[in-house]
Amino acid sequence: MAAKILVVDDDPNVQRLLSYALKQEGYEAVVAADGAEGLRLWGQEEPALILLDAMLPRLDGYQVATRIRAEEGTASHVPIIMLTAEAEVEQKIRGLRAGADDYLVKPFHPAELLARIKSLLARFAPRDTLVGRPPLGRVLAFYGAKGGVGTTTIAINVAIALKRELGRRVCLVDGNLQFGDHRVFMDLGLDRKSIVDVASAPSIDADLLRGVLVEHDSEVDLLLAPPSPETAELVTKDHVAQIVDVLRGMYDFVLVDVDKRLDDLNLGVFDAADQVYVVLTADLSCLKNVRLVLETLGHIGFDAERVKLVLNRSNAFTGINAKTAEGALKRPIDLQVLNEYRGAISALNSGAPVMLTKADSPLGRSIHDVARAIDKAVAGAPAAATAR
Ligand SMILES: Nc1ncnc2c1ncn2[C@@H]1O[C@H](COP(=O)(O)OP(=O)(O)OP(=O)(O)O)[C@@H](O)[C@H]1O
Ligand SMILES: [Mg+2]
Repeated sequence: MAAKILVVDDDPNVQRLLSYALKQEGYEAVVAADGAEGLRLWGQEEPALILLDAMLPRLDGYQVATRIRAEEGTASHVPIIMLTAEAEVEQKIRGLRAGADDYLVKPFHPAELLARIKSLLARFAPRDTLVGRPPLGRVLAFYGAKGGVGTTTIAINVAIALKRELGRRVCLVDGNLQFGDHRVFMDLGLDRKSIVDVASAPSIDADLLRGVLVEHDSEVDLLLAPPSPETAELVTKDHVAQIVDVLRGMYDFVLVDVDKRLDDLNLGVFDAADQVYVVLTADLSCLKNVRLVLETLGHIGFDAERVKLVLNRSNAFTGINAKTAEGALKRPIDLQVLNEYRGAISALNSGAPVMLTKADSPLGRSIHDVARAIDKAVAGAPAAATAR
């Protein structure tokens, strides 16, 4: 989502020039031609930043800045860059006193303005969420090599950690279309909208998705699975591919919890994914399945680099440890999540994910480490859409 910038300037040439420069940089520009309109649009549009000309008809820039600072209270602060025609020290001081955060003397180079905008947006971003930065658009698929290995637990909690601990914008898709568990894990009723509402619409775009996504208490946005299994078949491989593609343009991370079938629909998700995390536990039948999955993906020419292995319940006593598993699979385990049966099951049964209520528990810290490693590996790499 592009950051919205309000331009308040009475000169049509300046309006045009600034709008153009802002749009080129990926921002959304809203224009006001005088101080009163500027104030009105500040309230209505909630811009991420304001470019405010000092000399304006009706209310001048200093008055507008003073009014905004008086009205916005202490909880929020919209960054303001004052644009002035005079380089006099008195004018600069007057602007700063009125509540501007920075100023530029006209004429200025657009590159300087854009650099100042970036730095102010970063400085006033809530926590470390980099508002104004285009979304990273990374897609992560979580796939269980066997039922019940903890794929959903890991996908949900990694999503929450990426949002709450790392400040990323995150969407979580329940791709287990027939028996999706996200409503149970996150205490949401059957009345919430689901992916079926997207699939039944004539076309799929960001506005449609915004109306269907459910905002969870963790601030992760959820695209839920249908409330009952019989409607799942209304969702096709093409729907899912389109949905993931649109979500990629809206979020830093789109996590898809896929069920264990290696069918067309799931392979479509894998294809769209920057990384596929295969979740396993240390038992023989699971290792056998991981081997089969890796072989199958190899046969269809899937890049092995895009598959990572996540050993769940890594310290549970099963007679097989991470090293033995690596030996059997002839490849490294990339990530590990600790075993904490009580924490995991009580979170599930209460509908309150561990990362939301017990982030400081051993399981919470272990998931946080995994989320950090994923963020580091994936955020820095080029996106799959452009890499391929
Ligand atoms: N790290 C963990 N430590 C202990 N128990 C865990 C852990 N992760 C998951 N579990 C437990 O394992 C069970 C299965 O978890 P989950 O539903 O997340 O698995 P799944 O692979 O998504 O299953 P399904 O195949 O039904 O989709 C749950 O009871 C959960 O509490
Ligand atoms: Mg599951």
